[in-house]
Amino acid sequence: MPTTDLPPTLQTPAFLQILNLVRDPIAFFDHHLAQQGDTFTSRVLGPGGPPVVFVGNPTSVEQIFTAPLETFCLGQVTHVFRPLTGDRSLIMLDGSEHLRQRKLLMPPLHGQRMQVYREAITTITLEVLRALPQNRPITLRPYLADITLQVILRVVFGLEPGPRYAALQTLIAEMLEAITQPFYSSCFFFEFLQQDFGPWSPWGHFVRQMGEIDRLVYAEIRDRRAQFPGASGRQRTDVLSLLLTAHDEAGQGLTDQELRDQLMTLLLLGHETTASSLAWAMYWVLSHPAVYQQLRADPSPSNAQDYLTAVCNETLRLYPIALIAQPRIAKTDYDLSDYHCPAGTVLVPCIYLAHRRPEVFPEPLRFMPERFLNRQFSPAEFFPFGGGHRGCIGMAFSLFEMRLILQTLLNQGDWELMANQQVQPVRRGITIVPSSGVKVRYTASPVPIALALNSADADRASVAK
Ligand code: HEM
Repeated sequence: MPTTDLPPTLQTPAFLQILNLVRDPIAFFDHHLAQQGDTFTSRVLGPGGPPVVFVGNPTSVEQIFTAPLETFCLGQVTHVFRPLTGDRSLIMLDGSEHLRQRKLLMPPLHGQRMQVYREAITTITLEVLRALPQNRPITLRPYLADITLQVILRVVFGLEPGPRYAALQTLIAEMLEAITQPFYSSCFFFEFLQQDFGPWSPWGHFVRQMGEIDRLVYAEIRDRRAQFPGASGRQRTDVLSLLLTAHDEAGQGLTDQELRDQLMTLLLLGHETTASSLAWAMYWVLSHPAVYQQLRADPSPSNAQDYLTAVCNETLRLYPIALIAQPRIAKTDYDLSDYHCPAGTVLVPCIYLAHRRPEVFPEPLRFMPERFLNRQFSPAEFFPFGGGHRGCIGMAFSLFEMRLILQTLLNQGDWELMANQQVQPVRRGITIVPSSGVKVRYTASPVPIALALNSADADRASVAK
């Protein structure tokens, strides 16, 4: 064994560390940030498992994000998603195969393409708003999840309202709701629970639901291949259409299974994440009257857009819906800043720890969008979307989507946060959400509040670069 000098090590027994992390990850990180600082070594993979280092120090985070490709391999945590995303999903791949798929998936989710998605996102938001019960308390999160699911179906899958769209909307919403239930989610972690005892058993139910979703997704892929290229005579702009034409350097396109797996990955990682971030954003805006007023009152589109971006960034800072980026395993002995980690050490860039450092974010518990107007943060100080070779490929898309939806919601009427709701950060599936689901009252305004969105804003949706 090489001599090691790992970051400060937690002294509690491994089983207690696991229990505390699973039961209340926020309390776990708060406690150890106060006790050990922003970077520490744990045994959350068990007493015999490799050390797991949570890294919140910007110098070390930057080192991990900029390390050469061959330094780390992917931690074996994403396997829990395999029954949903399949073997060919981006999050299951490593090394050159991962890079190849990433290059194919990135272009449709970046740059000027955002403008093409503007109309669909606004239309869906307005449709959901029109059906929203008015002048009485409602729980907002499910409506936000409805918006972001429909955005994926229309903008990513390229589906149009109709029987297949409606069937997928219902099946996916039910399936994603079911897998947030404790027993169901345990099935993903423990393979021995993945037993099909018929349609009434949890796994049997999941397998049948997934089979039906797959049938519809493969049917869509088949139809679209048959229509291609442009048989309908019109230019399609959705992500699936772009992926159908995508080729790597060797001229290789994506197979049907690769397409299905990538679509399910974008759905799984792109829907609840953005919905939960929007739920937090609405909670913070409505619980800070000055912020609410400013978002609705600023007369200058340019200032209004900067402020809106700052509100989204501060939302993603305070309770990042993903507390950690994907774990990276050191392939060989690795020097992390002043520490020495043996080969096999699991390094986890910890978004939550980094975002709570008072040195970078004074009064870290306060919601203060202005901090993003007054200062630029480095990609190792503020990284709600992770970074490096495995950073989120949906970052530009979801920031654009978040801002557009938030603005449309605030633009269309008056919102009031219901009093006396205890809001705690709690885990729901793969995201951290406000426990109450955000209870609000909405009254549509006869004349939408003018908060013009100019068309240059997609490019200005800037997380610190
Ligand atoms: C507010 C919304 C979102 C947040 C906070 C978020 C956050 C994250 C984080 C923290 C990671 C891990 C990054 C790392 O390990 O360094 C990630 C990965 C990923 N995200 Fe997102 N995400 C969001 C929305 C989306 C959307 C809308 C999509 C797609 C439409 C998406 C697709 C992905 C994919 C495919 C990966 C895996 C990348 C890889 O392994 O190469 N995400 N996301």
